Amino acid sequence: GPPLRSLAEARKIQIGAAVEPSLLLQEPQYAQVLAREFNLVVAENVMKWGALQTARGEYNFAAADLLLNFAQRNRQAVRGHTLVWHQQLPRWMYGSFTSAEMEAILSDHIRTVVGRYRGQIAYWDVVNEAIGDDARLRSTPFDVLPGYLEKAFRLARAADPSAKLFYNDYGAEGLGAKSDAIYALLKELRARGVPVDGVGFQVHVDSSFSPRQVRMAENLERFAQLGLEIHITEMDVLLSSTGSRAERLERQAQVYREVLQVCLRQPRCKVFTLWGFTDAHSWRGASEPLIFDVDYQPKPAYFALQRTL
Ligand code: XIL
Repeated sequence: GPPLRSLAEARKIQIGAAVEPSLLLQEPQYAQVLAREFNLVVAENVMKWGALQTARGEYNFAAADLLLNFAQRNRQAVRGHTLVWHQQLPRWMYGSFTSAEMEAILSDHIRTVVGRYRGQIAYWDVVNEAIGDDARLRSTPFDVLPGYLEKAFRLARAADPSAKLFYNDYGAEGLGAKSDAIYALLKELRARGVPVDGVGFQVHVDSSFSPRQVRMAENLERFAQLGLEIHITEMDVLLSSTGSRAERLERQAQVYREVLQVCLRQPRCKVFTLWGFTDAHSWRGASEPLIFDVDYQPKPAYFALQRTL
């Protein structure tokens, strides 16, 4: 059948995968399958703060540039991931800073990074995982700066007015206390004119996940009603540990199919992104959570997406 990217194009959505740029050079098949199947890429790690600004004021863009070049050559859109997150920060960020110093640090980082790729990155995850599983704001090194969330969005908008700016989180796919808190936050930010254009749902799940059970469609709809664009940003699905191999692969395929269907039925859902694409390289280890196997062969989950698109 046709590659996923041409089917997605016909449905007017983008289908993406998270990428480790070093593998583009090391594994020809990795680059080939990525270019053939996806029309959007996101850096799995190399655009995080700890990768880009290892020492204060010292930036390393080599790996990120490699990804941008690959995307350009292969006519792929790019999601930028991520500007403000409490993880994968460089050690120096844990020093003690005054509010004014933190403001300078935040604004230097966002201006430098977003400015460098101005016009080349369609979507930025400006804020990642700011709400904890207890539905309250997490504590982060940024806390010394009051209003840092709102400032981050405003700085990103100023650095690249053409990029759509996102809040991204996990465990908020369905209705619940955490998604309520994110909804309230985004509603309040938009009411005050803070430039938030969209919300990303990560969808790191296991094979028991059921969009219907958690009322994912209703949840997405309330965010859509705020005027937000909706992206599925990091989907992967752990293979279950019970049943025959064929059953387990089919159950996994079913979860991919159901989440894609929810996206396709929501007019504001425009991007469907997987957190990797081959089981040979997944942050979730040996659980085979992706749509190509370790030998780059398509799994039932791949064919489920192909048939659904
Ligand atoms: C993960 C990467 O996949 C790993 O390689 C890394 O060691 C840790 O981060 N939510 C996110 C992503 O927003 O940035 C995380 O990526 C997975 C969870």
